[in-house]
Order: sequence, then C-alpha cells, then structure tokens
Amino acid sequence: MSLLITNVGSLVTNDPSHGTGPLGLLADAAVVVEGERIAWVGPAASAPAADERFDAAGRALLPGFVDSHAHLVFAGDRTAEFNARMSGQAYTAGGIRTTVAATRAATDAELDANVLRFVTEALRQGTTTVECKSGYGLTVEDEARALRIAAAHTPETTYLGAHVVAPEFADDPAGYVDLVTGAMLDACAPHARWVDVFCERGAFDGDQARAVLTAGAKRGLLPRVHANQLSYGPGVQLAVELGAASADHCTHLTDEDVAALAGSDTVATLLPGAEFSTRAAYPDARRLLDAGATVALSTDCNPGSSFTTSMAFCLAVAVREMGMTPDEAVHAATAGGARALRRTDVGTLAPGARADLLLLDAPSHVHLAYRPGVPLTAAVWRAGVRAV
Ligand code: NIG
Ligand code: FE
Repeated sequence: MSLLITNVGSLVTNDPSHGTGPLGLLADAAVVVEGERIAWVGPAASAPAADERFDAAGRALLPGFVDSHAHLVFAGDRTAEFNARMSGQAYTAGGIRTTVAATRAATDAELDANVLRFVTEALRQGTTTVECKSGYGLTVEDEARALRIAAAHTPETTYLGAHVVAPEFADDPAGYVDLVTGAMLDACAPHARWVDVFCERGAFDGDQARAVLTAGAKRGLLPRVHANQLSYGPGVQLAVELGAASADHCTHLTDEDVAALAGSDTVATLLPGAEFSTRAAYPDARRLLDAGATVALSTDCNPGSSFTTSMAFCLAVAVREMGMTPDEAVHAATAGGARALRRTDVGTLAPGARADLLLLDAPSHVHLAYRPGVPLTAAVWRAGVRAV
C-alpha cells in the first residue's frame, strides 16, 4: 500500500540534498510513503502516482519529533513540590524519592497505563519516537519491572538505577553503586538499550558515575549522562571521554565543557522544560551551536522537574530563551534527537527513512515557535500508519 501526501506548502526533510539549508526545506512538495518507509520526496508537480492520496492543503510537514529524554515509568505526582518551588523554594535531587515511594507502591498495570497515557499524549502532539528511563524503582525488582514496562512501548529504554541513592542505602552510597553495577544491572540489562547516571551533587559524583557507565558498557549498554544540570561538574567531560551518545541538561558549562562537546560525537541534549519548571536559568544553546556542538531538544518529561510531553513547548522556549533560531530548534527536536539516540531511520524525511510524519495546522514549521501554546497538530503518521 502506498500513500501520496501532496500539496505540502513547506516540507522539512532534514536532508540538505533534498532542499535548502540544514532543514532541507522544499516548497510545494510531496512525499510518497510505502509501507513503513518514505519512498520518495520532491516537488509535488513531479510526484509519482500512489494507491492513496492525502491533500496537505498547503500546510507544513516535518519529521515526527524525537524525544530522546523522558522518565515515563512512575506513579503519583508532585504538585505540592511544584507549588512550593513557585513560592520560592529551590529544586533538589532529593524530590526524586517522593516518586520512588509512589512508584514502588503501584501495580504493574498502573505503571503500564501511565506510560501508555504519556506516550499517547506525546504522539498527539507529534512525537513519534520517545526514549524512556527507569530510575523511580531503585531496587533490583523495581528497576527491572520499570524497564520491562517501558520496553513494551519503545525500543529506546534506558537503565537509570543510578538516579539517586536508594533510601535503604542512605548511609552506604558505595554499597548502592555496587548494587547498581552488579545484581541490578544483571536484572536490567536484558530490557535496556542504554545506561544513564545522574551525575550531580546530591546524586552521584564523577567516580561513581564512571563506575556505573563502564559497568553498563561492559554489558552492552550504550552510555548517556545526566550532566551539569544543577551545577558545574564532571558529567560532560565524562560523557565525552566515554563516547556517550548524549550529555543531557548541559545547563552549567565551562568553556572546556563546550569545547569537549564541540570536538566530539556526544550530543548536547537541552531540556528547557526542566529550567522552566524549576525556575532556573536556561542552558545557552547559542554558545553550543556557535562552537559547533550538535544540539538536541527533549522534554525530560518527569513528575518532578519537567512534567510536560510537549516538544513544541520546549522548542518555543528554546527559541525565546536559549538563543536558537526556529530552524535550529526544529532541527534539534527532530534530527538532533535522532542523533542523540544514534538512530538514522528517524528524524529525517528522505527515501528509506521511517515514515514518521507530523502535519501542522500551519503553513510553516516556524509557527511551532511563533504560535506558542497553540495545538498545531493536524495529522501524525507513525511508521506509515495514520496515528492522529
Ligand atoms: O532529569 N535530573 C534528574 N532527573 C530528573 C528529575 C527527576 C525528578 O525530580 O523526579 C531530571 O530533571
Ligand atoms: Fe532527566
């Protein structure tokens, strides 16, 4: 079965060989989808015939968003903590333990329903690929079940047993690192693609983070790092040294950190929802882009520091507050996320790519930042199937 989507006013391919600029923009375009894949992109006037036809009516079409950083396996919420923050209290890593208690108390079915709710909520807003971390279980059984549940919804599963030290190990953080790099890793590795660690004051220091990432890598898990979120620290340098796919947050960077990212394959994944919801200063995307680093934008969806599934919201904030152009932000939310997940089949609309498409109720992708807070999703296809 093939589908021709024609009369596309503005097409973002993210493939410069198919159009202008880094977004590979094409006006008056068409796309042909065959099964799960893109078969053809080009000017509407020269599009080949297909079994079915969809008239985009001059609107903008882009790759589905790739949200490469989210924490969706949890129960409960932290409204009270958010309220307290908006009354002046500071965010600390310790709030994670509130969600750990609620998550441990939840049934598998409750957790599964929550993940489905958030993945569906994201899909309705154009997110067709989402990464999902564990990290609110912090026991062998609870971390393994979080990843089992996540794996039913996405292949991009991340073992984050090293989110904070489990409450049972409050007096023995070294013992907890042993567990995370030992029995917990054994139980989690079969269900995970990635290993992550929250390298931060109040969570894990550089040596502990190195131990977690290298143990995970020995089991075939690819590293990514929560780095330099709340303060300066060793996370970014460690991520680059270990060849991590991504260093996430990057809010407090020295010139050396920026240079290390720019000189490496490690993507700087920026999560403006976290600064928004913790009333913190935003990371400086302009500085990273000007240095030559690859930047991704993601939601960090979690109940503590960033309870949003909206990539469009994050993109608008990044444009307004972090020095990104609308084109750069759209690229970061699609191709950038794909790079942060080391995926070549998503984040781009070239022949052979997965047919993950977001049609906007707008003539241009720029409207994602120009019309903040407005639901602009007209249609979504995931792997060639109309999902919204
Ligand atoms: O990415 N930084 C660590 N983890 C989450 C916060 C989790 C929480 O507060 O529950 C984050 O912001
Ligand atoms: Fe996070």
